[in-house]
Amino acid sequence: MEIPIKRIVLGITGGVAAYKAAELARLLVKEGIEVQVVMTAAARHFVGPATFQAITGRPVFTDLWDERSAGGMAHIELSRGADAIVVAPASADFIAKLAQGHADDLLSTLCLARDCPLLLAPAMNRQMWDHPATRRNAAQLEADGVVLLGPTAGEQACGETGYGRLLEAARIVEALQARFMPKLLKGLRVLITAGPTFEAIDAVRGITNLSSGKMGYSVARAALEAGAEVTLVSGPTCLAPPDQARILRVTSAQEMLEAVEAQADAADIFISVAAVADYYVLNPSEMKIKKDAHILTLELAPNPDILANIASRPKPPFCVGFAAEIENVEEYAELKRRRKHLPLIVANDAREAIGADEVELLLLDDDGQHTLPRADKLTQARRLIEHIAHLYNGLFQ
Ligand code: C5P
Repeated sequence: MEIPIKRIVLGITGGVAAYKAAELARLLVKEGIEVQVVMTAAARHFVGPATFQAITGRPVFTDLWDERSAGGMAHIELSRGADAIVVAPASADFIAKLAQGHADDLLSTLCLARDCPLLLAPAMNRQMWDHPATRRNAAQLEADGVVLLGPTAGEQACGETGYGRLLEAARIVEALQARFMPKLLKGLRVLITAGPTFEAIDAVRGITNLSSGKMGYSVARAALEAGAEVTLVSGPTCLAPPDQARILRVTSAQEMLEAVEAQADAADIFISVAAVADYYVLNPSEMKIKKDAHILTLELAPNPDILANIASRPKPPFCVGFAAEIENVEEYAELKRRRKHLPLIVANDAREAIGADEVELLLLDDDGQHTLPRADKLTQARRLIEHIAHLYNGLFQ
């Protein structure tokens, strides 16, 4: 799927958090976005333009009267063709200026002379953020259609703790993408399972697999971007779930089944990405099993198949399965699709997919097969969501 954002102006104002804008610029560039950095004079006291120049591969502008801009019209030219202006960090002073419509430097002038959305990620000392003047200014900007991202609460550079921290760079990128993606699943409720399950052997040991949860979490993010309401049932992973998702954490397949069963009635679409353990240990020990010289035998019993269970309901949600195979990928996946009565299954090579950052996917549905050529999991998740939306919406036409 084409990312709708091609070009942004990244404004950086004077605050300690300015150094975090370097990470933000890097992530934006990584997403394939052309980033034009504009710094205020104060921002340059915190971090040098050379950093941003190196990351974005483009010259950094500060001055309204910069001679590098043809025709001396930097205030119009730099934002021309931009899909958005993102100011991160946005200081209290800059927010006040924008709320009043001032345009006394390049960045504030660009914000005033724009014809694209403006997103601000405020960052300041908690008392500055709590001050009635800042609250007033922030509310005014929101009323003017400006989008505020954050701030979040936490430890601050000044040593105090409270609201005023810059939203994490990855979250800013997420929010930006989400705003611009086509809302293909608007109003729909999507239930997703992700990650591995963990089947206890004793108090501290268990059986699990190498699933990282990256694919399922990416699918959750892509569904949110597409305007869906997302419930993510996750096995144990180290990943941070997308902000807007409702997250239900589970450990074993049995717990995952219970969570999914409780949510399935309220779901329009169920995407089963989790690598659910096929077996659980029949008699796990509540204590830690002591080592001795004897052979230890574990008795394993089959776990319930969560997806098959939901798909065989009288009125199932639109069910999408994943199939990680090592040989005859297409054939086995198609058999699985038919056996579980799924309108769509996503097949991949288990050796390459599990835990990896990039995958090639094969989608199998009633119309045949569609290859999604190798790409990072978020890109694949967006393509998958587009395909699901197409099939789902086709059902109701
Ligand atoms: O049959 P297999 O385990 O290969 O099926 C893969 C699909 O079924 C995946 O979508 C997986 O999430 C789902 N599954 C499940 N519950 C299980 C096993 C697999 O939901 N116990």
